[in-house]
Amino acid sequence: MSAPTLTRQVFDIRDLNLWYGDHHALKNINFPINKKEVTAIIGPSGCGKSTFIKTLNLMINMVPSVKMTGEINFNGQNILGEKMDLVELRKHVGMVFQKGNPFPQSIYDNVAYGPRVHGIKKKKHLDELVIKSLMDVALWEEVKDRLTAPALGLSGGQQQRLCIARALATKPDVLLMDEPTSALDPISTLKIEELILELKEKYTIVIVTHNMQQASRVSNKTAFFLMGELIELDSTSTIFSNPNDSRTEGYITGRFG
Ligand SMILES: Nc1ncnc2c1ncn2[C@@H]1O[C@H](COP(=O)(O)OP(=O)(O)OP(=O)(O)O)[C@@H](O)[C@H]1O
Ligand SMILES: [Mg+2]
Repeated sequence: MSAPTLTRQVFDIRDLNLWYGDHHALKNINFPINKKEVTAIIGPSGCGKSTFIKTLNLMINMVPSVKMTGEINFNGQNILGEKMDLVELRKHVGMVFQKGNPFPQSIYDNVAYGPRVHGIKKKKHLDELVIKSLMDVALWEEVKDRLTAPALGLSGGQQQRLCIARALATKPDVLLMDEPTSALDPISTLKIEELILELKEKYTIVIVTHNMQQASRVSNKTAFFLMGELIELDSTSTIFSNPNDSRTEGYITGRFG
């Protein structure tokens, strides 16, 4: 029987090591991720944040030189084991990138993309998913009269919300976000942050950010990476007010990075 604390975990990463060829990019990472929490990942450029987040839905497998050891347990299954169905995994673990990257298609087709890949064909069902996903990201009111217009005609902030809607349309459990607001203006950034706070009622979110204020505003837990190591993982308030490790303190107070 599992202890009650374990049942709250959606991911349990154990002794994860990752190499790009000879370059040891992630070193002995042990990282539990709790359900319906926002976990922020911070650390200087090149420390392995994007690498780590891309292991969680095995996007990292697209890099041919990658080798991994250890375990990434997702809902109790080690996804580094054999026979992992990547389409199925990515349905449950969606991803949003730094720059909104809508497909050169209509707004509707962008959001319907994932459900269609997963075999949903009925217009009524697709309509429902598209409307719900656009409502979830607070974009519905802005686009409901132009669903067939090209997604690339939206503003940067709208495109990023559209990409989040596209990720939500397959009803994932987990949403991975790699610097989702770094290309956005302050107002659009605020909208995405408000959205994250709403989404965490339903989803588990892992967000990479260079913005300390953002990490402290949106996350429950914060992880500090340095040169491929997870230096410290704790409640966000502890990391920002009373970190255990002097290297974490050095980073958050701006002494390096
Ligand atoms: N495809 C790749 N092939 C080889 N090395 C890579 C590859 N991608 C990343 N790396 C290396 O792995 C290390 C970690 O990179 P990663 O992109 O995870 O850093 P990051 O923390 O996301 O940095 P940033 O804040 O600049 O986005 C870096 O040294 C980087 O050069
Ligand atoms: Mg990165």
